[in-house]
Amino acid sequence: MTAMRLDRLLANLGYGSRKEIQALAKAARITLDGAPFKEADERVALTADLPQRLLVDGEALDPLPGLALMLHKPLGVTCSHKEAGPLVYSLLPDRWRLREPALSTIGRLDKETSGLLLVTDDGALLHRVISPKNKVSKRYQVTLARPLDAKVQGVFASGTLMLEGETTPLLPVAMTQSSPLHATVTLMEGRYHQVRRMFAAVGNHVAALHRDRIGGLDLPDDLLPGQFRILTDISPVFSGT
Ligand code: URA
Repeated sequence: MTAMRLDRLLANLGYGSRKEIQALAKAARITLDGAPFKEADERVALTADLPQRLLVDGEALDPLPGLALMLHKPLGVTCSHKEAGPLVYSLLPDRWRLREPALSTIGRLDKETSGLLLVTDDGALLHRVISPKNKVSKRYQVTLARPLDAKVQGVFASGTLMLEGETTPLLPVAMTQSSPLHATVTLMEGRYHQVRRMFAAVGNHVAALHRDRIGGLDLPDDLLPGQFRILTDISPVFSGT
């Protein structure tokens, strides 16, 4: 079982500098199992139940490192500083922006795409999800500007579609259609703006895009845009779709 100095743990979780944590401890504002944890340089065992047992100002400790969560990304927020607008991290508690290791999104959604986004501070998990060898699929609900041409399903499934400016064709993409303007596509890779560029390549235009599934993990109906939920079990992401 891993253990860590209390001041380091709390500083890494964004509660303040080590000096500030020491001051909190001296002021008896940190308790473990109900008793003040006075010496911030003492080590604490990182057990799964620590957040319930270790309280700061009477509040349960933030989740320990190894955090993974799902977020219902609303339209208009961005996954990267490269796009203008509020970042998805602004939807999480303020202190979480100071965490070390830092939280990052597992892959990205465009500013104008909504839906399921995974966020983690676990680099190994991030790589497991995005590594092509693990074949984690991503499912999108697409609303089109023009009725779909009957040939498109075959083109997407062919494994020969080449996007503009690229030199390797896309892997086959499964598509089902629920109406002339509505399609569901499942990707096994994640190229830049892939869904929008795929439909542009066949002469259509994506009017709205929403991701509702990653691997075997569905965006829950009761997780509203802007809300997030901590994942206690990440295994559905790697289960067959
Ligand atoms: N494809 C896109 O074009 N945009 C996204 O956000 C995700 C997949």
